Amino acid sequence: MDVLKELEEFRKKDIPYTRVLSSMCTLPHPIAVEAHKMFLNTNLGDPGIFRGTFELEKKLIKMIGEMLHNDIASGYICSGGTEANIQGIRAARNFMKKKNPNIVVPKTAHFSFEKIGDILRVEVRRAKVDEEYKVEVAEVENLVDDSTVAIVGIAGTTELGQIDPIVELSKLAEEKGIWMHVDAAFGGLVIPFMDDPYPFDFVNKGVKSITIDPHKMGMATIPAGGIIFRDQSYLKTLEVETPYLTSKTQYTLTGTRPGTGVASAYAVLKSLGYEGMKKVVKTCLKNTRALVDEMKALNFEPVIEPVMNVVAFKTEKADKIKEELYKREWVISTIRNPRAIRFVIMPHVSEETIKSFIEVFRKVLVEV
Ligand SMILES: Cc1ncc(COP(=O)(O)O)c(C=O)c1O
Repeated sequence: MDVLKELEEFRKKDIPYTRVLSSMCTLPHPIAVEAHKMFLNTNLGDPGIFRGTFELEKKLIKMIGEMLHNDIASGYICSGGTEANIQGIRAARNFMKKKNPNIVVPKTAHFSFEKIGDILRVEVRRAKVDEEYKVEVAEVENLVDDSTVAIVGIAGTTELGQIDPIVELSKLAEEKGIWMHVDAAFGGLVIPFMDDPYPFDFVNKGVKSITIDPHKMGMATIPAGGIIFRDQSYLKTLEVETPYLTSKTQYTLTGTRPGTGVASAYAVLKSLGYEGMKKVVKTCLKNTRALVDEMKALNFEPVIEPVMNVVAFKTEKADKIKEELYKREWVISTIRNPRAIRFVIMPHVSEETIKSFIEVFRKVLVEV
């Protein structure tokens, strides 16, 4: 068998995005695909060779920095939110230079923070959230001590799309002289395009680093995460010497890394612009509302009224529903607390997709 035919067979087993209502990734924008192809063999691990690609990355970081209200931001495009969070906390730990370091994160933080605790040997303290699933600032303050190197706030939680009180957390971080990291892996490319956006970014003086992923709502090709620092000095805490490369030092976690994420993210943001991104976000929010209306008509209550295009509905039968849907090749997810089924309404989830889903969902409800 021709190898490409063989590959096709494997690919056919994948579930198409049109039946995926659980992922924070989406179909790349067509312009992202074109850009990706142009940069297939690029390696930003050796920026002296890939000079143009490196220049493009700087331009993209400047563009993202300005969107985050900071025209001297510094950073790079990495493999995703996990790496970005690792690097944000690693920079905080290196910068703060404390013995037995700890970080304080909301209970709702992404599981990448567990990896961070393990890899970086920092204690991860989890603060309670309130009834709206936002972290309690007083609780964060209680957990902070002389060994705390970072306070983390989330702008767009993985399970509910909620935004923590970043303004208050940043003030607390400033008061205590602690690094503040914002995990906006998902919300970073949603919130700026919403009406009356919550100030989650560098407008808050305490915020030193932000995770923001183009391969989520930025419709870039995978992998494309982003770690952005307030300025160059914070990025410098990550540098190691690179004796045999075209550069003298390297601040990234991986060595060899693709330029495809840079090119595809740049192509999307540049070609759609602010107005284009606003339209994409508006459609996702409208479709989220449409799903909420359908679900309410079926007597399902959202855990919180959706803040962005992530929504969960309470049900004790969450696992059974998910399982039955999966048998029919529809993918949703569940959350831990409270028991609920969760949806992410990405750009690939159209109104028609929601209608088709609800038809299948009704049938599943009869069976569970
Ligand atoms: C808030 C948040 N942070 C970090 C991550 C990790 O991102 P990645 O899977 O790209 O490593 C996710 C993924 O969903 C996320 O929602």
